[in-house]
Amino acid sequence: MGGRGMKGPDLAKVGADPKHTREWLTQHIRDAKSHKEDSRMPPFPADKLNDEDLRVLLDYLLSLKGS
Ligand code: HEM
Repeated sequence: MGGRGMKGPDLAKVGADPKHTREWLTQHIRDAKSHKEDSRMPPFPADKLNDEDLRVLLDYLLSLKGS
């Protein structure tokens, strides 16, 4: 896993973009292809990331607004 071609974007300010609502981020993490057909980001269904872990992850991502 990892290496060239496996990299996602910098998420340091992901919570600052008004497009990135809790609902949008949920859809993106559960199934990135629902937003972008050719997304390279793998889906994270409930067996990989349970609802509680997703909830705290979303709290964290939404808090990332840059300095
Ligand atoms: C739990 C782990 C992950 C989280 C929370 C996460 C989160 C995100 C978010 C929020 C975006 C949207 C950024 C934006 O719109 O500005 C994004 C996009 C993206 N992520 Fe992830 N990501 C994860 C894992 C991964 C992995 C493992 C990969 C690659 C192997 C990846 C590859 C990408 C790529 C290429 C994009 C660009 C948009 C697209 O192609 O859909 N991500 N990620």
